[in-house]
Amino acid sequence: GEPVSIDLSHLQPGQQISLFWQGKPIFVLHRTAPALAELKNPALLARLGDPDSTVVQQPDYARNWCRSSRPEFLVVIAICTHLGCIPTIRPDSGDTSVDAAWPGGYFCPCHGSKYDLAGRVFRGVPAPYNLPVPPHHYTGDTMLVVG
Ligand code: FES
Repeated sequence: GEPVSIDLSHLQPGQQISLFWQGKPIFVLHRTAPALAELKNPALLARLGDPDSTVVQQPDYARNWCRSSRPEFLVVIAICTHLGCIPTIRPDSGDTSVDAAWPGGYFCPCHGSKYDLAGRVFRGVPAPYNLPVPPHHYTGDTMLVVG
């Protein structure tokens, strides 16, 4: 499939946009500074199934603490690794409709899988793997190319 380009210059911290690449939904999230700090929180890491992204669900350049080539932007394929539903973003901690102790992230409404804001799966949910990160790079300051 063809690469897809999108200009992120108007995507404010905390905002997410969706696009399609190879027929798949892609989420692009502009992570806030507190959200980035949370990705390194030992209490969070202790609850993740694959905190170091050892399973190949991302390109090599996104096998890092933020699962991204630019920390502020998360780019993930929005397909739950359980049975393929589209997770929803729930960025706020203490979302009691999900789990009062959950720090927030992505929640799959189908069977309750939870991921953090790097798409890393929590332990104890049906989904076995982190959300996939598609190939992506930037041209210029703000032009994201997926594919
Ligand atoms: Fe997401 Fe089952 S498809 S939890």
